[in-house]
Amino acid sequence: MKKIFCLWMLAISMISPVSKAVEPELILADLSLLKLAQVPVLWKDEELNLGYAKVDFFHQSLLSYWTHSQGRCGGFQRILEPFDQIQAQAQFDFFQARKEKEDFYMRGPFNPPFISPKPEIAEAIDQLKKEELTKWVQWITSFPSRYHKLEDPNKHVRQLADKLQKILEASGRSGRVEMIDHTSTKQKTLRLILSGSTRPDEIVALGAHFDSIVKYGNELAPGADDDASGSANLLEVLRILLTQAPLERSVEFFWYAGEESGLLGSTEIAKAYKKQNKKVISVLQLDMTLFPGAGLNRLALMRDFSSAWLNQTLKSINQAYVGVEIVDSECGYACSDHAAWYKEGFASAMPFESTFETYNKDIHTANDVISPKLNFDHSLQFSKLALAYVLELGNGELQNPVY
Ligand code: BES
Ligand code: ZN
Repeated sequence: MKKIFCLWMLAISMISPVSKAVEPELILADLSLLKLAQVPVLWKDEELNLGYAKVDFFHQSLLSYWTHSQGRCGGFQRILEPFDQIQAQAQFDFFQARKEKEDFYMRGPFNPPFISPKPEIAEAIDQLKKEELTKWVQWITSFPSRYHKLEDPNKHVRQLADKLQKILEASGRSGRVEMIDHTSTKQKTLRLILSGSTRPDEIVALGAHFDSIVKYGNELAPGADDDASGSANLLEVLRILLTQAPLERSVEFFWYAGEESGLLGSTEIAKAYKKQNKKVISVLQLDMTLFPGAGLNRLALMRDFSSAWLNQTLKSINQAYVGVEIVDSECGYACSDHAAWYKEGFASAMPFESTFETYNKDIHTANDVISPKLNFDHSLQFSKLALAYVLELGNGELQNPVY
């Protein structure tokens, strides 16, 4: 079906004068993919397997065809700012250095952080409820679409902002709910900040994308798994977090704009945080947590575009508090918002519903709805992991020893 769609797109792009008029866009993609699709490469790094290319609609369709034929989604990132060869080289150097740091961490004298279970954290985790998670996913998927190019792309964003404001007020805790403007999209990212009691400049972050997309079929984009699930996981974490004693470090929750169209919101935010020299200790991304494709309570940690230290820390947290099976997996490309933070040099990670090979193939279609194939017990494990992560990192000294 996807192949037929891609071939159809190819055919349309060849005959349509409209599509030929579309300005070519600069993208960053796997070099092997660019070669497979026979797209001319502008700047490349063979060792990193990355290349920049200017692609028109025809080439984009070709790339999309080849990525899907490999069982992958997307597979390339749009470069929106002005860019030249020197900047491309600087990016390659940065990625190389970053990779070396991750290798150094894995080879180096660092033991995985040992976390001895704290009874108050275990008690907090016990209060998380799958019924609450279900209610949130039902509410989020009740919007026909959350696409960033809708006429009103912020309807669901405003409504969640109102709900968050009320939740905060009811808790009696001080915090800020903000809608962040972007230049790359009209959609806004929602941010909730709980300021740290003693070290407010140190930030422990959690994110999920609040937009949805449909690539095949009609206009309905319910996005239950992708990513009402992760968005709901964070809301359930927040419910319990607000009943706990304030943390030393600041906690920031993000519900990002425009992820489905190129990590738009998270890229702008990560760049701004880097520019402002913000001290982000770690960023946890939850994107797709409802489909137990590799088995119930068998989660994956995406090894690429993520921090080796944070992945080890999450494994220790899992052992101390959650007790599910965690396997390593890879997207093979910058598949979600954690990659935007990683690219700016921050420590990010993405626990995922299954291995990459066994993910939910209904995403980006009108069939990504609540159904018996989705499992809320499975999804609740991600809220447990995320709550333990905030409570462990929010107090104390844990931080990346390498960068
Ligand atoms: N949730 C997906 C990412 C994903 C899909 C991870 C399948 C693992 C398996 C995310 O919302 C998404 O669709 N990302 C885009 C990439 C983005 C840069 C446009 C994709 O994969 O096409
Ligand atoms: Zn998606």
